[in-house]
Amino acid sequence: MKKILLFLLVLSILIFSEGVIINASREPVIGRNGMVVSTNEIASRIGIEILKKGGNAIDAAVAVSYALAVVYPQAGNIGGGGFMIIRLADGNITAIDYRETAPEKSSRNMYLDSNGNVIKEKSVRGYLASGVPGTVAGLSFALEKFGTMKLRTLIKPAIELAKNGFPVSQGFSRVLKNYSSLFKRFSAPAKIFLKGKNFYKPGDILIQKDLAKTLRLIAEQGKDAFYRGKIAKLIEKEMLENGGIITRNDLANYNPKLREPVKGTYKGYTIYSMPPPSSGGIALIEMLNILEGYNIGKSGFNSSKTIHFMVEAEKRAYADRAQYLGDPDFVSIPVKTLLSKKYAEKLRKSINRNYTTPSEKIKPGNSIINERQHTTHFSIVDKEGNAVSCTTTLNSYFGSGVLIKGAGFFMNNEMDDFSSKPGSPNIYGLVEGEANAIEPGKRMLSCMTPTIVTKNGKLYMVAGTPGGATIITTVLQVILNVIEHKMDIQEAVDAPRFHHQWKPDTIYYEKFAISKDVRENLEKMGYNLTLKRDYGDAHAILVDRKNNILYGGADSRQEGKAEGY
Ligand code: DON
Repeated sequence: MKKILLFLLVLSILIFSEGVIINASREPVIGRNGMVVSTNEIASRIGIEILKKGGNAIDAAVAVSYALAVVYPQAGNIGGGGFMIIRLADGNITAIDYRETAPEKSSRNMYLDSNGNVIKEKSVRGYLASGVPGTVAGLSFALEKFGTMKLRTLIKPAIELAKNGFPVSQGFSRVLKNYSSLFKRFSAPAKIFLKGKNFYKPGDILIQKDLAKTLRLIAEQGKDAFYRGKIAKLIEKEMLENGGIITRNDLANYNPKLREPVKGTYKGYTIYSMPPPSSGGIALIEMLNILEGYNIGKSGFNSSKTIHFMVEAEKRAYADRAQYLGDPDFVSIPVKTLLSKKYAEKLRKSINRNYTTPSEKIKPGNSIINERQHTTHFSIVDKEGNAVSCTTTLNSYFGSGVLIKGAGFFMNNEMDDFSSKPGSPNIYGLVEGEANAIEPGKRMLSCMTPTIVTKNGKLYMVAGTPGGATIITTVLQVILNVIEHKMDIQEAVDAPRFHHQWKPDTIYYEKFAISKDVRENLEKMGYNLTLKRDYGDAHAILVDRKNNILYGGADSRQEGKAEGY
C-alpha cells in the first residue's frame, strides 16, 4: 500500500511539474544566432540589429559601447577606458587594454598635502582626477583588427540617440536626481542633465546635442578627431582653464594595447580573463585554483562551509593583488607563480577548515568601502561563435563630474585607482602599494574582469560585471553558480552575493545572501559580517553547443536586457 502511494505521489509530481517554472529567477533569454546582454535595453537592441545586419560580435561591441556612452552616461563613455576579451570563432583569444594612462604632468604625490596626507576627493572629483581616456582608441583598434563594418555605420545609432533623444528610464531618472549636486558643482553637466530647477522624469526625452556633434566628428574622422583634432583641443582647453593637466600631447601619445589574456583551468573548464593592468584575471584564477581543492558543489550554495572556503581564497588573492599588481609595462609581476596550481596548493594548506585566518596574519593594511560606484559590462556572441566580453568605465558614476564643454561627455576619475599613498584606501577601500604608485604614462590597476570560459575547447560562457572591488568576487560567484551549483545563467547573475577583499577583515553580504544560522556558524568560525548594498549588474551568456542555443542573463539588479535572435 505504502509503495503504491509513493508511486502515485512521484507520478503526480512528474505530471503536474510539466510546464511549471522551476527556476529561482525569470527564464534566461534564448537565441540561436546571436546574443547581446548589456545594462541598457536600447543598447542591447542596437547590438542585436548590428548582428542581424551581418556584423560580427566585435562590430556589435563597438555599436553597443557608443550607444552606452549616450543612454548610460554614468558609466558608458568616451571619456573613460575599458578592457575587452575577444574570442574568435576559430578559438583565437586576445585582450584589448584601453585603460586610461596617467598624464605626463602627473606625479607620485600629486594627491598629498605638505604633511604627506591624502587630500580627500582630489583624485575623485574635478580636473585632476582624470586619466587620459582610452575608449575611442580602444574601440577603433578592436574594429580595425577584428571587425568587419565601418565605424561610421556603428556610431550612427548613437548619434541619432544623442541628437533626437531617448526616453529616460525609471532607474536613470533616479540616478539623475541623486547626482544633481554633482552636475551643479561643475555647472556644464547641469545644463544637459537637469531641466532647469526640475529633474528628468521617467519617459521624458533627454537630448545631448554637443555629444551628437562629438560622435559625428569621430564617425567622420575616426579616433584622430578625439586624440589630435577638435575634441583634443576642447579637452586641453577645458583642462588648462581649470587647473587640469591633460594636454593634447597626452592625447596624441595614447595607445591601446593588445595583450595576452591570463589563462587558468577549473575542473575541466578553461578560464580566460584580463591580465594586468587589471588585477581581475589573476585574482580570479588564483581563487579558482585554491577552490578547486574543495567540493563547493557538495557543500552547497552559500552554506557556511562554502562561504568559508571562498572567503579564505578571496582574502589571499586580494592580499597578493595589493602587493604585487600594477601596470606590467612599469613593474614586474610574478604572474606565473600567482597563476600556478602549486602556489594555490600552498595557499590552500594555510586555510584552516574550521576557523578564519585573520587578515592581519595574511598581510598588513586597513581600509573601508564608502562610495557608490559605477562601471558597466556587456557580453556578446554572434552566429559564427565570435565572442566579446567587455567592461568599460568612468570609475565612479559620471567620473570626475567634469563634462568637456562643447563636447558633451564626462571625463573619468580613474586616477583614484592608483595608490595615492601606499597603504591608504581608494574609494573602494582597496589598499595597494608601490606597484601601483602614480607615474606619468602608467596605467592604474583595475579590478575589471571581463572573462570567457571554454569547455573542451568550445565557447561556454561570457561574463563580467561592474562593482569596483567586488567585480572579481562577483565573476567568481557567477562562474561557480553555474559550474558548481548548476544554476542557469539568469539565476547565476541574480543570486545574492558576498564579498571579502582582505582588508577590512569582514565579509560583506547582500540582503538574503546569508541566512541566520549560516551567519551564526560563520561568527563561530571567527568572522565579522557587514551588510552591503550595490553589487554590480553582471551580464552573461551561456552557450549550449550541443543544442546550438545561446542563453542570455541580464542581472535583475538594474534595468539590463538580454536580446537574442
Ligand atoms: O577599474 C576598476 O577596477 C574600477 N575603476 C572599476 C569601477 C567600478 O566598477 C565601479 N562600479 N561599479
